Order: sequence, then C-alpha cells, then structure tokens
Amino acid sequence: MASASRAQFSSKLGFIMAAAGSAVGLGNVWGFPTQAASNGGAVFLLVYLVMVVVLALPMLIAELTIGRYGQANPLRSIASVWPNASKIPLGFGLMGLITALMILSFYSIIAGWLVGYLVSPILDLVGLNSVSHWLETFSTERNLFLAFVFIALTMKVVMKGVTEGIERWSSRLMPLLVGLFVVMIIYIMMQDGAIEGLKMYLVPDFSHFSSDLVVGAMGQAFFSLSLGVTVMIVYGSYLPKDVNIPKTAAQVAAIDTGIAFGAGLLILPAMFVAQKHGVQIYDQAGQLLNSDTLVFTVLPAMFDSMGSTGAIVSVLFFALMLIAALTSSISMLEVPVSCAIEELGQKRSTAVWWIGGLAILLASLIVFNFGSLFGLVITVSTVYLQPLLGLVWAICAGWVWNRAKLLEEIRQGHPDMENSFFWKVWPNYLRYVCPILMGLVFWATI
Ligand code: PFF
Repeated sequence: MASASRAQFSSKLGFIMAAAGSAVGLGNVWGFPTQAASNGGAVFLLVYLVMVVVLALPMLIAELTIGRYGQANPLRSIASVWPNASKIPLGFGLMGLITALMILSFYSIIAGWLVGYLVSPILDLVGLNSVSHWLETFSTERNLFLAFVFIALTMKVVMKGVTEGIERWSSRLMPLLVGLFVVMIIYIMMQDGAIEGLKMYLVPDFSHFSSDLVVGAMGQAFFSLSLGVTVMIVYGSYLPKDVNIPKTAAQVAAIDTGIAFGAGLLILPAMFVAQKHGVQIYDQAGQLLNSDTLVFTVLPAMFDSMGSTGAIVSVLFFALMLIAALTSSISMLEVPVSCAIEELGQKRSTAVWWIGGLAILLASLIVFNFGSLFGLVITVSTVYLQPLLGLVWAICAGWVWNRAKLLEEIRQGHPDMENSFFWKVWPNYLRYVCPILMGLVFWATI
C-alpha cells in the first residue's frame, strides 16, 4: 500500500533533525560518557571514533538506501530488495520490529527516571517534598508511573505523524539540546576539579586498550546510530529521492558523534567536580561506580551540594537527557506504527494507541520483574539482536540486493557519484568488510 501520498520529511534539514534525533539519545548522553569513564577515557573515545567511521556509517548508508528504495514500512522495504517472493525478509523485518519494541520498553523505564529527576527539584521548591522524594526513590509504582508518562509523551508525538510530529518536534528539540549542552559544558568547565576529568577524557592511556574495549566501542557505535532495528530503514523511506544519501548519512553520524563527544566533555569533568564536593565516585575496589549510580546518584549529589544554582543546573541537565531520549523513542515507536498503517490498513491514531499500549505492557512486565528482566532485555536486544540484524542488513544490501539497483538508488540523489571516492570504496566495503566486522562483533559477544 505504499502510495504516492505517502508522507515524506519536508526538507533535508528536517530529515537530518529527525535522524539525528533518533541517533542522539541516552546512548550518547549517558551510555557513551559512562562507558568512556569506565574504560580509560581517551582510549575508548579513539576506538569509538574509528568504529563510527569504519562500521556504523557504511551501515547507516545501507539502511537508509534500503528504506528509500522501498518507499514503504521496513517489512515491505526489505522484501523489495529481495530477488524473489520469500518469507525470509518478513521474518527478519519482524525481528527488527520486535527489537525496536524491546528497546522502547527498557528505554522508557530509564527515561521515566529522568522525568522524575527533572521535576523533583521543582516540586521541592513548591514544598511538595514527599512527592519529590517518591519520584527519586526506586519503587515498582514509581517506575511504572514514570515509564507510563514517558511512553504517553512518545505516543503524543508519533500520533501527529511524520512531518507534524516527528520532524517538527525533532527540529524544535535538537537545537534546544545543543544549546543546553553548550551552557552546561561551559558551566562545568569553570568548576573546581573539572580539569582532572578533562585530562582523563582527552589524554590516552593505552594500558586500558583491550579486545573487550573494541567490542564495547563497536556495540556502542551501533546502538548510538540506531542501527539494526530498522529505524533508519523507515526514516530512509520518508526521504525524498533527490537527497544525497552518503552525504546526509555522514552529517547525521557527525552530529551524533559530536553530541556523544560533548556529553563526555560534560560528564567526565562533572564526576571529578562531584568528587571535589565530597561525593564518592569510586567503589571500594577502586573501580568507577556503575553508570546508573553515576547519573542518578553522583550527579544529583553534586547538584545538591551546589545550593540553589544546583537546582537550576539539575533541571537543565535532566531536561537535556529527556529531550535526547524522546527524539529517540519516537523513532522506535514509528517502526511498528508504520508497519501497522501500511500492512494492516490502520489509521495512524489506532496504530499508535494499540502499539503504545503494547509498549506500556512490555515496560510493566519488566518493571514487575525488574531484577530478572531489566538487564536481560537490554542484553538480548542491544548486545545480541542489534548486531545480528546489522549483519543481516549488510548481507542484504551487499549480496542479496541487485547491485545495479542499489547503486541506481544512490545515484538518484548523487548524480556524479561515479567520480567519487565513495563509489570506488563503499560497494565492496559493504560486501566484504562490513559483514566480517559485524560477524566479529557478534562472535565476540557470544
Ligand atoms: N540511538 C539511540 C541512543 O543513542 O540512545 C538509541 C536507539 C534509538 C536505539 C532507536 C535503537 C533505536 F531504534
């Protein structure tokens, strides 16, 4: 049912905002800096940068191209590059869709905590201290309530559709995010202790280098660019034909990496500033505290020690994280919603209601079985399924899809492609190197 009236991003900038919005999320503002902090700082940063260029970017181009060629939801786009009618692409497409829902469910729980930490200083200010305390204290009810609030926000945006919802909100929120970031980084840099964190982040100590670090950086790059789960396939399908995919993908990857880098500039120095304020950042064994503790204990403790400025900085900080999370969660919800609209012939609102409901149900299941499910769902979806699906799309674009059609699709927005470096390298790179690298990640993780 891919019709001529199918929605499209209204401009190239709108697409970049939406795709960068999907890419920039908790993975950048939380995952990347905390992984960098516990893996030697600068060395992790260097390996990560290499992984973005050698693996994530070529894969991003492949996913966007599959989507733009298909001009339909991921299930149909993937089938469109298959040479014959087969159930295989449907199976893989469904796997992508289920992975997107799994990520959405755990992501909403974490993002819900951000909602809690964002509003609690405001509630304190108006004297609602017990509510504020409830929002900052781990409990099943609190987790459930906040995840519900976050999924409802996500549903509200996706309900509005591609241009009015996803593109408009990403275009509003992304510049705000960058602005907040700059303010926060300048503020933290002026605090006592910041330089120590900066040194750890920017001066490499190669004794931290290991194969685990390489695998971690690869996985992080993959998660950060929202690869594997067909989000970029569906966003590619809303991309006009005259857009130069390699160039646009490079811009999206650059924004995503820039924000991850900026988050490191914020969080690593902030940890050491917190330490100067008497907050513990290492455990008894001398290891850095884990990522939840860093974001939800260390930083709030630092904000508390800063008095009333701290309350403002805290609100800004959690607003920043929440914005990043929201522009990502809308892309995750869009994957199954686009499938329900086109494959089941449903109205967007109907699809958003029941799929959003399903996401709430999944999130509740995790909340009620937090100890056993939370870590498991994260591991299964991001450590196993994302790389596995990445491998599938690399094979799909590199081997299964008719080569002439693949290149013709790219040429549409890039007429002088034949003379470019990209044309000389990418097709064979995608065919041979990407699957091998992806296979290595997968092999290393299992
Ligand atoms: N790229 C997002 C982040 O860095 O937080 C996470 C993400 C978004 C993963 C969308 C998967 C996805 F489909």
